[in-house]
Amino acid sequence: MSGEKFTSKTGAIAAAAGSAVGLGNVWRFPYVAGEDGGAIFLFFYVLFTVAISIPMLICEFSIGRMSGKPVTGAFQALRPGGRWQAIGVIGMLTAFIILSYYNIVSGWTVYYSVASVGGWLSGLSGDEVAQVFSGVSSDPVRSLIWMCVVIGAVAFVVAKGVASGIEKYSKILMPLLFLLIIVMLVRSLFLDGAAEGLKFYLKPDVSKVTAKAIFDALGQSFFSLSIGMGIMTTYGAYIPKSQGLGGMAARVAMLDFLVAFLSGAVIFPCVFAFGIAPDEGPGLVFVTLPNIFNQMAFGQVFQAFFFFLLMVAAITSSISLLEVVVAFLKESFAIGRKKSTVVASVAVLLFGVACALSPAVFNVFDKVTANVMMPLGALAVVLFVGWGLPPKRLRDELEADGRPFRVFRSMLFMVRYVIPLAIAVIFVNGLYAWLCA
Ligand code: PHE
Repeated sequence: MSGEKFTSKTGAIAAAAGSAVGLGNVWRFPYVAGEDGGAIFLFFYVLFTVAISIPMLICEFSIGRMSGKPVTGAFQALRPGGRWQAIGVIGMLTAFIILSYYNIVSGWTVYYSVASVGGWLSGLSGDEVAQVFSGVSSDPVRSLIWMCVVIGAVAFVVAKGVASGIEKYSKILMPLLFLLIIVMLVRSLFLDGAAEGLKFYLKPDVSKVTAKAIFDALGQSFFSLSIGMGIMTTYGAYIPKSQGLGGMAARVAMLDFLVAFLSGAVIFPCVFAFGIAPDEGPGLVFVTLPNIFNQMAFGQVFQAFFFFLLMVAAITSSISLLEVVVAFLKESFAIGRKKSTVVASVAVLLFGVACALSPAVFNVFDKVTANVMMPLGALAVVLFVGWGLPPKRLRDELEADGRPFRVFRSMLFMVRYVIPLAIAVIFVNGLYAWLCA
């Protein structure tokens, strides 16, 4: 994300979408939806994405482009001497904690890719597929080995700054991931019992509305769009002025939503067809999908390819996360990019060990970052944009492409009142429900 490269329109969209589309869409979204009653979670997820996350994305892009600086410098440049810089620090801590468990999941995708090539998953029954997952995930040594492979790859890219290479390949590989999800969708919809899965996923059951489901939906929406930690602010600095930020945000959010929504549409029919519990937790993708591949012609080839593509999607997200930590170290301790990358990666690895050893730590890191730290970061950003900046500056930035931003007044109203209030209420309510659970 070392910036300089993303000067074209597609480059900027690709970079932002690369950060957004990742494990959050294919791994996290279905598992959290499954824990929170399916359709009702989906309903709140869509609502929050449209009403909160897209305006947030526009705010983050605007501050980045307005200041022309990456996150830590952006707030300082726009409001010298303020305390807003703290947002950068919250973002850095959030990124660090996410990385600690995110890389473990990326490691599992590498394992599944290798296992498919080796044919270790072919012809297994549903129960055996589940055993394979518990075998890898409950064995810290194996988890750590695969995680190291991923950390090495991410560190290599960040240290070298070969983002342009990754960007180039991502532009080919990500549409392929999308295509493969569609192929799997077709197979999944024809499974026996698919209808029940779709019902769970698409037909809301109002009795399942809980404070936790709402809390999780907001957290997932922020997590999936990489919001509230300054990543999108940094990318905003590289969006050309000729590009409307509203359209840009809508496009990134749409792409991100499609990948998540379709992943759910593949997974839930399979969950019901194979008698898997929808609230299985973080292993959901790994215990469902191999069953679909086992029922497809050339399933193992597709499977190897699918998990490989998922790993690439995860790596483009990890790059954006590691970059936040590296940029912070570089700035705060005046050390070079290579050294910062090594220090950050080793620290992430050590915290990763804690996650690999304890599912409870893994779970707390996962939920606290998405549900607590990202909303707090988002709240700070939205207050900054709504109250810390003159509205005219925001409007000028949004209209820099020469076209009027028609919904400016409503958006300002949302940014000043509705979004901060909504985040605060969902946050307090959800936290209470979570702590009492
Ligand atoms: N949005 C990424 C995903 O969906 C994860 C992420 C979160 C990346 C926060 C950067 C910041 O996988």
